[in-house]
Amino acid sequence: MNIQLLNQNISDATTDISLVYLTEATLKKSTNKKALKLAGFSASQDSICFLHDKNTLFCGVDAFEADDVRSVSAVAIKAVKATNYKSMNVSLDDKGLIFALVEGFLLGGYTYDTYKSKKEKVALKTISLIYTKDDYKSAIKLFSDAVIVADATCFTRDIVNTTPEDLNPPSFAKLARNLAKENGLSCKILDEKALLKENCHSMLAVGRASRHESQLIHLTYKPKNPKKIINLIGKGLTYDSGGLSLKPGASMVTMKMDKAGACAVLGIIKAASEMKLDVEVHAFIGAVENMIGGDAYKPDDVLVSRSGKTIEVRNTDAEGRLVLADVLDYAQDKVKADYMFDFATLTGACMVALGQYTTGVMGHSSRLKHDLSKASSNAGELTSSLPFNKHLKKQIKSGIADICNISNKPYGGAITAGLFLDAFIKKENKDKWLHFDIAGSAYTESPWDVNVYGGTGAGVRFMSEFLKNIK
Ligand code: BES
Ligand code: ZN
Ligand code: ZN
Repeated sequence: MNIQLLNQNISDATTDISLVYLTEATLKKSTNKKALKLAGFSASQDSICFLHDKNTLFCGVDAFEADDVRSVSAVAIKAVKATNYKSMNVSLDDKGLIFALVEGFLLGGYTYDTYKSKKEKVALKTISLIYTKDDYKSAIKLFSDAVIVADATCFTRDIVNTTPEDLNPPSFAKLARNLAKENGLSCKILDEKALLKENCHSMLAVGRASRHESQLIHLTYKPKNPKKIINLIGKGLTYDSGGLSLKPGASMVTMKMDKAGACAVLGIIKAASEMKLDVEVHAFIGAVENMIGGDAYKPDDVLVSRSGKTIEVRNTDAEGRLVLADVLDYAQDKVKADYMFDFATLTGACMVALGQYTTGVMGHSSRLKHDLSKASSNAGELTSSLPFNKHLKKQIKSGIADICNISNKPYGGAITAGLFLDAFIKKENKDKWLHFDIAGSAYTESPWDVNVYGGTGAGVRFMSEFLKNIK
């Protein structure tokens, strides 16, 4: 499917079907009011109505605002893809809606059929956005950035959706190497021998029972005169069985998505490099498989992390934080960054706290949390802050080691996991760091907003928006 932005002069390009957006108020003034009423269309949000004799699909919105337009566009593209129309157009006079339209169409129209033996045929080949104002040049920049970010989100979804048999730590490293080659990024990969040299004993313990070697992946996008340096860190559990603290069968299904933080980080560096942003971006990924076996790490083990801090293991299913402890430490040692963001499907507790649609944001800097919240609402992703406090911090004290990998109380699990990570953030970086728990937002089995079955690409849009606005 090809998407293009045309200006009004070439708008006489013929297309099969036009999309028209209506609110309840503009419906009243529509020349098609009668026919639409007969068809039962009242322009309520996310409702659509074909008038085939007019070659038009009407789309209902509460208001002409990005969130509403994005959401109904996702509904509309699915409906058009089910018809035999080969091309569609939508005209717009508000530049501010370009992002929403592109995302609605490209993300809402996303399908993943790699494992289907029969691929569905889609007639729709071309989507044309027709911009009716004069400043086409600035519109085209907005448009091309929107396409880059939407494509990067779909790239992230594709990797998340790949099975654990096809995507394991070594094949993840290979995929990252390919991305580096295609996008002119530098790439360094540490295998288990190199990880041992780096004293990443916490990360190595998690992957010990797997037949796949753990990998630490470091990609760099380095423009000429970067305004800022950003470290992105991703949890890349290509499968999380829980380890010896084995997950119940039903909870294990979907755990291929436990690599979604790492996949997001790859999508973000891809988008940043393609938009040619003036920021240096480092992506650090801990790619590990958490399995069972005679060589598995155990509850009761004490691990010596790369930082020297010792960790009591009381539950092998709280493995993401053990991997991140070493990757965070490695990243801080290798690159002195202005900001540091980690992305992780870290806790089921985050979903309990915020629901499955919202990314949990944790960190010390209110300013950074505020800026991030602005970026996410502009980008159309849901995020919400989960506040640290000193009482919860006491819950991860250990009787035998420096820190314990689980809390001794059943409440506030997303925050205690965030506080565990905080123990591996160096003093000078405390205000530069945010942790994103994407356990709920990264994957879905029922469609919502622009998301369809499978990986959502959570984090790619809000972080791309944040990076675009860095001064
Ligand atoms: N990968 C899971 C968290 C998760 C759960 C992500 C559901 C997405 C959906 C993580 O490694 C985990 O198992 N966390 C445990 C922590 C507990 C043992 C303290 C959890 O959330 O139950
Ligand atoms: Zn786990
Ligand atoms: Zn996990």
